[in-house]
Order: sequence, then C-alpha cells, then structure tokens
Amino acid sequence: MGGVVVVGSANLDHRLTMPELPGVGQTVLSTDYALAPGGKGANQAVAAARAGARTRMVAALGEDTAGQRLLAALRESGVDTASVRVSPKPTGAAFVMVDQRGENQIVVAPGANFELGAADLDRGLAELGPGDFVLLQLEVPGPLIEAAIFTAHRRGARVMLNVSPVLEQARSFLAVSDVLVVNYGELIEVAGMLGMSIDADAPTLATALATRLQNVVVCTLGAGGALAATREQLFEQIAPAVAAVDTTGAGDTFTGYLAAGLAGGQSVAEALSLAVKASAQSVTKPGAIPAIPHLADLG
Ligand code: RIB
Repeated sequence: MGGVVVVGSANLDHRLTMPELPGVGQTVLSTDYALAPGGKGANQAVAAARAGARTRMVAALGEDTAGQRLLAALRESGVDTASVRVSPKPTGAAFVMVDQRGENQIVVAPGANFELGAADLDRGLAELGPGDFVLLQLEVPGPLIEAAIFTAHRRGARVMLNVSPVLEQARSFLAVSDVLVVNYGELIEVAGMLGMSIDADAPTLATALATRLQNVVVCTLGAGGALAATREQLFEQIAPAVAAVDTTGAGDTFTGYLAAGLAGGQSVAEALSLAVKASAQSVTKPGAIPAIPHLADLG
C-alpha cells in the first residue's frame, strides 16, 4: 500500500466572519475573529493522515508561535514532520473572510512557504517509491513543483496536482501530472489558459481537458459533489446535504482523502465517494484543519 507525500504550504489562518464579504473600497465589521492552522498543503496532509494514509509533509515554517502551532497540528494528526524545516522567514499567513453562507475569500502571505528549496525535496522525497502519491498545490515556488514532479516520476510514484490557486506557471505542470484536482471555477480558468472552449458543463469540460492532457481530471462541485474524468470514463458522485458554516479547506479535505484512497488501492469511484463525504462533513465546522474529519467519523 502506498503513502502520500505532500510538498506544500502551511499557513496560520486568520479567520474573519461577516454577514457579507466586502466589495472594492468597502469596510465591514467582523462578527468573529479566530486563528487556526491551515494552508493548502498542511490541510491536505492532515486530511490524508486522518483518512488513514501514511503521510509525510515537506514544508517550511517560521521560527514563531504560528510555526509551532502548525507543527503541533500536523503531528497530532499523525503526519510525519521529519521534512518540515524551520526558516528565517515568518510562517505563512492567510486572511480568510467567511460570509454567512460559509463562502470565503482568501489572501495568502507566503512567508516561509517560498523558502522551500531543492534540498528540502531531496530529503523529503528520498524514500519515495512506486505506489506513493506526491500531492502538490500552487502555494510554493513553481520550480520546486516542477522538480517534485520530475523526482516523483523518476521514482515510479504518481503525482496529484491541485491547481489552486491557478497561476500562469501551472501551464507547464498540467500535462505531466497524473491527476489534476480543481473546482469548477479553476476548471474554467485552466481550460481557458489552454485556449480550449469553456462554453460547456463541468462533465464535458473535464472530459475534454482529460482528453487533451491524457490524465485524470477531478472537479469538485461544492454542494453538487464531484466528478472524475478520463478520456474514456466519467465518474460522478453527489454530495450528502449538509448545513454549511464554513467552506474553507473543503477542497483540501477532498483532495487529501482522494490521494489517501488512491494510494491505498481504492478505485477512482471508491476514493471519490469517500472524499465527497469527508469534504461535506468538513463544511459543517469552522476553520480548515480543525474541521477535517477522521475516517472513523464518516460512518
Ligand atoms: O484552501 C484553504 C486554505 O487556503 C486556507 O487554509 C488558507 O491557508 C489558504 O492556503
């Protein structure tokens, strides 16, 4: 059974709740302010570990209380932190605004996340082998992602790339990743970036993208569940109805569970089903890492 190695970001999330997200030039008063561990990489690592996968994280944290908090959160969830390094830069910070429907807007200050380098990869991917998944997002430097993909394939591992946030540099990683994970907005951005027609529904667009890139394209659809497309097949999974309080980290919960399932030998349909269930449960609680369910909680 394979494991999951996440090369990615770790942020301390500053979570501000408010009735409506602010418009341009507008000031609004927050009804609540809380700090919680997050960051797309750390969220996905915690999700994979809570899903039961052997999980390692390659990350950089500052020498500060935020860094200590993130390290503790990763370790408490069973993530191997031997490849988490302390950097002279402050720990990454994310400013997460959440409205009364649980929808959010996020701004990230990368800090130590942009200090991750080749030496971190060499250490973190040293034990990688066939059956393992390397899980990547775009909150760390582009050249590092490129090197991680190259090393993963050289060692016979597979690559899952969560194309989030969508950046121009992602263009060169798309076709060399085995599995892409996007939400519907990101799917449209990625297809547009490749000059494809975006006038199509999610299943059609995901299938067209998977055909173009010759890989698996997984698209999350919020309350609508998720789908996975290859050139020949389409899997669709509806989500259970839940009352959402905060969608922050829902996509990360999904992605971590999906990677854990595939690394553990589940079929695409099985892994998709569990990932949708975990993601739906995560939106019923506030915060990113604090809201990620354990496998035993999924019933
Ligand atoms: O995907 C949610 C995450 O995005 C937050 O935890 C925040 O830190 C940003 O990285």
